[in-house]
Amino acid sequence: MKKYLVIGNPINHSLSPKLHNYWLKKNKIDAHYEKKKLDNKDLKNLIENLKEAKIDGINVTVPFKKEIINHLDKLSFEAERTQSVNTIYLKNDIVFGHNTDIEGFEKSIKNINFNPINKKVLILGAGGVVPSIIFALKKMNSSEIIISNRTKNKAEDLKKLFPDLKIINWGDSSDFDIIINATSVGLQNTDQIKLNYINDKKNKFFYDVIYNPKETNFLKNAKKLGNSTTNGKMMFIYQAAAAFKIWHGVDSEIDEGTMKLLDD
Ligand code: ATR
Repeated sequence: MKKYLVIGNPINHSLSPKLHNYWLKKNKIDAHYEKKKLDNKDLKNLIENLKEAKIDGINVTVPFKKEIINHLDKLSFEAERTQSVNTIYLKNDIVFGHNTDIEGFEKSIKNINFNPINKKVLILGAGGVVPSIIFALKKMNSSEIIISNRTKNKAEDLKKLFPDLKIINWGDSSDFDIIINATSVGLQNTDQIKLNYINDKKNKFFYDVIYNPKETNFLKNAKKLGNSTTNGKMMFIYQAAAAFKIWHGVDSEIDEGTMKLLDD
Protein backbone atom coordinates (compact mmCIF):
# COMPACT_ATOMS: atom_id res chain seq x y z
CA MET A 1 0.00 0.00 0.00
CA LYS A 2 1.36 3.40 -0.93
CA LYS A 3 1.84 5.99 1.79
CA TYR A 4 1.28 9.75 1.69
CA LEU A 5 1.84 12.33 4.41
CA VAL A 6 1.10 15.92 5.34
CA ILE A 7 3.77 17.40 7.56
CA GLY A 8 3.54 20.53 9.71
CA ASN A 9 3.81 21.82 13.25
CA PRO A 10 1.16 21.98 14.63
CA ILE A 11 -0.61 19.46 12.40
CA ASN A 12 -3.49 18.18 14.51
CA HIS A 13 -6.01 20.54 12.88
CA SER A 14 -5.18 19.39 9.32
CA LEU A 15 -8.13 18.13 7.30
CA SER A 16 -5.95 16.94 4.41
CA PRO A 17 -6.09 13.27 5.49
CA LYS A 18 -9.90 13.37 5.43
CA LEU A 19 -9.96 14.71 1.87
CA HIS A 20 -7.24 12.51 0.42
CA ASN A 21 -8.45 9.29 2.05
CA TYR A 22 -11.98 10.01 0.79
CA TRP A 23 -10.73 10.43 -2.79
CA LEU A 24 -8.38 7.40 -2.51
CA LYS A 25 -11.31 5.21 -1.47
CA LYS A 26 -13.61 6.64 -4.15
CA ASN A 27 -11.03 5.94 -6.84
CA LYS A 28 -10.14 2.50 -5.40
CA ILE A 29 -6.48 3.44 -5.06
CA ASP A 30 -4.47 1.23 -2.69
CA ALA A 31 -2.91 3.99 -0.60
CA HIS A 32 -3.23 5.74 2.73
CA TYR A 33 -2.68 9.39 3.72
CA GLU A 34 -1.62 10.45 7.25
CA LYS A 35 -0.61 13.58 9.12
CA LYS A 36 2.69 13.89 10.95
CA LYS A 37 4.05 16.54 13.29
CA LEU A 38 7.73 17.18 12.63
CA ASP A 39 10.58 19.47 13.64
CA ASN A 40 13.14 21.08 11.33
CA LYS A 41 15.71 18.44 12.22
CA ASP A 42 13.42 15.69 10.86
CA LEU A 43 13.13 17.09 7.32
CA LYS A 44 16.33 15.50 5.96
CA ASN A 45 15.30 12.04 7.09
CA LEU A 46 11.80 12.56 5.73
CA ILE A 47 13.14 13.19 2.23
CA GLU A 48 15.45 10.17 2.56
CA ASN A 49 12.34 8.09 3.26
CA LEU A 50 10.77 9.40 0.05
CA LYS A 51 13.90 8.48 -1.93
CA GLU A 52 13.79 4.97 -0.45
CA ALA A 53 10.10 4.68 -1.42
CA LYS A 54 9.01 4.33 2.20
CA ILE A 55 6.78 7.34 1.50
CA ASP A 56 5.26 8.07 -1.91
CA GLY A 57 4.28 11.74 -1.63
CA ILE A 58 4.29 14.59 0.87
CA ASN A 59 2.18 17.68 1.49
CA VAL A 60 3.84 20.45 3.45
CA THR A 61 2.13 23.01 5.63
CA VAL A 62 3.10 25.76 8.10
CA PRO A 63 5.92 26.30 9.07
CA PHE A 64 7.95 24.20 6.58
CA LYS A 65 6.88 25.44 3.13
CA LYS A 66 10.10 27.40 2.65
CA GLU A 67 12.48 25.40 4.84
CA ILE A 68 11.78 22.13 3.01
CA ILE A 69 13.24 23.61 -0.21
CA ASN A 70 16.80 23.03 1.13
CA HIS A 71 16.18 19.27 0.96
CA LEU A 72 14.68 19.01 -2.55
CA ASP A 73 16.38 18.38 -5.92
CA LYS A 74 14.19 20.39 -8.26
CA LEU A 75 11.45 23.00 -7.98
CA SER A 76 8.63 23.84 -10.36
CA PHE A 77 8.56 27.39 -11.71
CA GLU A 78 5.75 28.29 -9.29
CA ALA A 79 7.57 26.85 -6.26
CA GLU A 80 10.75 28.67 -7.25
CA ARG A 81 9.02 32.03 -7.73
CA THR A 82 7.13 31.83 -4.42
CA GLN A 83 9.88 30.03 -2.47
CA SER A 84 7.06 27.88 -1.19
CA VAL A 85 6.47 24.13 -1.59
CA ASN A 86 3.36 22.27 -0.48
CA THR A 87 3.56 19.14 -2.67
CA ILE A 88 6.51 16.76 -3.06
CA TYR A 89 6.96 13.72 -5.27
CA LEU A 90 9.70 11.47 -6.62
CA LYS A 91 10.19 10.99 -10.36
CA ASN A 92 13.17 9.22 -11.95
CA ASP A 93 14.94 9.36 -8.57
CA ILE A 94 14.62 13.15 -8.47
CA VAL A 95 12.76 14.81 -5.58
CA PHE A 96 10.43 17.48 -6.99
CA GLY A 97 8.74 20.31 -5.10
CA HIS A 98 5.66 22.06 -6.42
CA ASN A 99 3.20 24.64 -5.13
CA THR A 100 -0.51 23.82 -5.58
CA ASP A 101 -1.70 26.64 -3.26
CA ILE A 102 -1.51 28.95 -6.28
CA GLU A 103 -3.87 26.78 -8.31
CA GLY A 104 -6.05 26.43 -5.21
CA PHE A 105 -6.44 30.17 -4.80
CA GLU A 106 -6.93 30.82 -8.52
CA LYS A 107 -9.62 28.17 -8.89
CA SER A 108 -11.39 29.32 -5.72
CA ILE A 109 -11.76 32.79 -7.25
CA LYS A 110 -12.87 31.45 -10.63
CA ASN A 111 -15.32 29.12 -8.87
CA ILE A 112 -17.34 32.15 -7.75
CA ASN A 113 -16.99 33.87 -11.14
CA PHE A 114 -14.95 36.71 -9.73
CA ASN A 115 -12.35 38.32 -11.97
CA PRO A 116 -9.52 40.21 -10.23
CA ILE A 117 -8.32 41.80 -13.49
CA ASN A 118 -7.46 45.49 -12.92
CA LYS A 119 -8.54 45.23 -9.28
CA LYS A 120 -6.67 46.69 -6.34
CA VAL A 121 -6.00 44.04 -3.70
CA LEU A 122 -5.13 44.52 -0.03
CA ILE A 123 -3.67 41.45 1.69
CA LEU A 124 -3.61 41.30 5.50
CA GLY A 125 -0.76 39.06 6.68
CA ALA A 126 2.58 37.90 5.35
CA GLY A 127 2.66 34.24 6.43
CA GLY A 128 3.22 30.96 4.58
CA VAL A 129 0.38 31.17 2.06
CA VAL A 130 0.78 34.82 1.02
CA PRO A 131 3.45 34.38 -1.72
CA SER A 132 1.11 31.90 -3.43
CA ILE A 133 -1.83 34.31 -3.28
CA ILE A 134 0.33 37.11 -4.69
CA PHE A 135 1.56 34.88 -7.53
CA ALA A 136 -2.01 33.88 -8.42
CA LEU A 137 -3.28 37.49 -8.31
CA LYS A 138 -0.46 38.66 -10.57
CA LYS A 139 -1.27 35.84 -12.98
CA MET A 140 -4.88 37.03 -12.98
CA ASN A 141 -3.72 40.59 -13.71
CA SER A 142 -4.68 42.47 -10.58
CA SER A 143 -3.61 46.09 -10.98
CA GLU A 144 -2.01 46.58 -7.56
CA ILE A 145 -1.19 44.40 -4.55
CA ILE A 146 -0.78 46.00 -1.13
CA ILE A 147 0.47 44.12 1.93
CA SER A 148 -0.22 45.04 5.53
CA ASN A 149 1.33 42.87 8.21
CA ARG A 150 1.66 43.39 11.96
CA THR A 151 5.39 42.65 11.71
CA LYS A 152 6.40 44.96 8.88
CA ASN A 153 9.76 43.36 8.06
CA LYS A 154 7.98 40.13 7.08
CA ALA A 155 6.03 42.15 4.51
CA GLU A 156 9.29 43.76 3.35
CA ASP A 157 10.74 40.26 2.85
CA LEU A 158 7.98 39.53 0.36
CA LYS A 159 9.17 42.48 -1.70
CA LYS A 160 12.36 40.51 -2.40
CA LEU A 161 10.21 37.99 -4.27
CA PHE A 162 7.75 40.51 -5.72
CA PRO A 163 9.41 43.96 -6.04
CA ASP A 164 6.27 45.81 -7.17
CA LEU A 165 4.35 45.10 -3.95
CA LYS A 166 3.22 48.11 -1.95
CA ILE A 167 3.72 47.82 1.81
CA ILE A 168 1.68 49.77 4.34
CA ASN A 169 1.89 49.82 8.13
CA TRP A 170 -0.48 47.59 10.08
CA GLY A 171 -3.44 49.81 10.93
CA ASP A 172 -2.84 52.35 8.15
CA SER A 173 -5.82 52.73 5.88
CA SER A 174 -5.88 51.87 2.22
CA ASP A 175 -8.33 51.86 -0.63
CA PHE A 176 -9.07 48.44 -2.19
CA ASP A 177 -11.47 46.47 -4.38
CA ILE A 178 -10.56 43.15 -2.78
CA ILE A 179 -9.33 42.52 0.76
CA ILE A 180 -7.89 39.15 1.78
CA ASN A 181 -7.42 38.06 5.36
CA ALA A 182 -4.36 35.80 5.37
CA THR A 183 -3.64 36.25 9.07
CA SER A 184 -4.59 33.68 11.68
CA VAL A 185 -6.93 36.22 13.31
CA GLY A 186 -10.36 34.62 13.04
CA LEU A 187 -9.45 31.04 13.89
CA GLN A 188 -11.07 31.68 17.28
CA ASN A 189 -14.74 32.65 17.05
CA THR A 190 -14.16 35.71 19.20
CA ASP A 191 -11.20 37.04 17.14
CA GLN A 192 -11.66 40.47 15.57
CA ILE A 193 -9.42 42.26 13.10
CA LYS A 194 -9.23 45.74 14.53
CA LEU A 195 -8.84 47.87 11.42
CA ASN A 196 -11.39 50.70 11.53
CA TYR A 197 -11.15 51.61 7.85
CA ILE A 198 -12.63 48.29 6.73
CA ASN A 199 -15.83 49.03 8.64
CA ASP A 200 -17.18 51.62 6.21
CA LYS A 201 -16.65 49.63 3.01
CA LYS A 202 -19.46 48.41 0.83
CA ASN A 203 -19.68 46.68 -2.56
CA LYS A 204 -16.17 45.31 -2.10
CA PHE A 205 -15.00 41.71 -2.09
CA PHE A 206 -13.84 40.19 1.21
CA TYR A 207 -11.92 36.88 1.11
CA ASP A 208 -10.84 35.00 4.22
CA VAL A 209 -8.32 32.18 3.86
CA ILE A 210 -9.77 30.68 7.07
CA TYR A 211 -12.58 28.17 6.47
CA ASN A 212 -13.04 26.89 10.02
CA PRO A 213 -14.99 28.71 11.45
CA LYS A 214 -17.01 28.93 8.23
CA GLU A 215 -17.69 32.62 8.67
CA THR A 216 -15.14 34.65 10.62
CA ASN A 217 -16.11 37.99 12.17
CA PHE A 218 -14.17 39.59 9.31
CA LEU A 219 -16.63 38.05 6.82
CA LYS A 220 -19.70 38.48 9.05
CA ASN A 221 -19.11 42.22 9.42
CA ALA A 222 -18.31 42.64 5.75
CA LYS A 223 -21.53 40.91 4.74
CA LYS A 224 -23.59 43.14 7.07
CA LEU A 225 -22.11 46.20 5.38
CA GLY A 226 -23.14 44.93 1.93
CA ASN A 227 -19.94 43.38 0.64
CA SER A 228 -19.45 40.04 -1.16
CA THR A 229 -17.63 37.42 0.88
CA THR A 230 -16.02 34.01 0.52
CA ASN A 231 -13.98 31.77 2.80
CA GLY A 232 -10.93 29.60 2.09
CA LYS A 233 -12.72 26.27 1.82
CA MET A 234 -12.54 25.94 -1.95
CA MET A 235 -8.91 27.06 -1.98
CA PHE A 236 -8.12 24.24 0.42
CA ILE A 237 -10.04 21.68 -1.63
CA TYR A 238 -8.53 22.75 -4.96
CA GLN A 239 -4.95 22.71 -3.66
CA ALA A 240 -5.55 19.17 -2.38
CA ALA A 241 -7.13 18.11 -5.69
CA ALA A 242 -4.10 19.42 -7.60
CA ALA A 243 -1.73 17.40 -5.37
CA PHE A 244 -3.96 14.32 -5.82
CA LYS A 245 -3.72 14.72 -9.61
CA ILE A 246 0.09 14.93 -9.47
CA TRP A 247 0.44 11.79 -7.34
CA HIS A 248 -2.29 9.59 -8.80
CA GLY A 249 -2.97 11.07 -12.24
CA VAL A 250 -6.66 11.22 -11.37
CA ASP A 251 -9.04 14.18 -11.26
CA SER A 252 -10.78 14.02 -7.89
CA GLU A 253 -14.48 14.60 -7.97
CA ILE A 254 -15.45 17.58 -5.82
CA ASP A 255 -18.91 16.36 -4.91
CA GLU A 256 -21.29 16.97 -2.02
CA GLY A 257 -19.46 14.34 0.04
CA THR A 258 -16.20 16.24 -0.40
CA MET A 259 -17.79 19.49 0.74
CA LYS A 260 -19.34 17.82 3.80
CA LEU A 261 -15.97 16.41 4.93
CA LEU A 262 -14.84 19.87 5.94
CA ASP A 263 -18.01 20.83 7.76
CA ASP A 264 -17.68 18.80 10.96
P1 ATR B 1 3.81 32.01 9.75
O1 ATR B 1 3.90 33.49 10.05
O2 ATR B 1 4.60 31.14 10.70
O3 ATR B 1 4.01 31.65 8.31
P2 ATR B 1 1.01 31.86 9.34
O4 ATR B 1 -0.08 31.20 10.14
O5 ATR B 1 1.17 31.50 7.92
O6 ATR B 1 2.34 31.59 10.14
O7 ATR B 1 0.87 33.44 9.44
C1 ATR B 1 0.29 34.07 10.50
C2 ATR B 1 -0.05 35.49 10.06
O8 ATR B 1 -1.04 36.01 10.94
C3 ATR B 1 1.13 36.43 10.12
O9 ATR B 1 1.03 37.38 9.09
C4 ATR B 1 0.93 37.08 11.49
O10 ATR B 1 1.52 38.36 11.64
P3 ATR B 1 3.03 38.51 12.19
O11 ATR B 1 3.91 38.29 11.01
O12 ATR B 1 3.08 39.89 12.74
O13 ATR B 1 3.20 37.45 13.25
C5 ATR B 1 -0.55 37.23 11.51
N1 ATR B 1 -1.09 37.39 12.87
C6 ATR B 1 -1.18 36.44 13.82
N2 ATR B 1 -1.77 36.94 14.94
C7 ATR B 1 -2.04 38.26 14.68
C8 ATR B 1 -2.67 39.31 15.41
N3 ATR B 1 -3.12 39.13 16.66
N4 ATR B 1 -2.81 40.52 14.81
C9 ATR B 1 -2.38 40.71 13.54
N5 ATR B 1 -1.79 39.75 12.79
C10 ATR B 1 -1.62 38.54 13.34
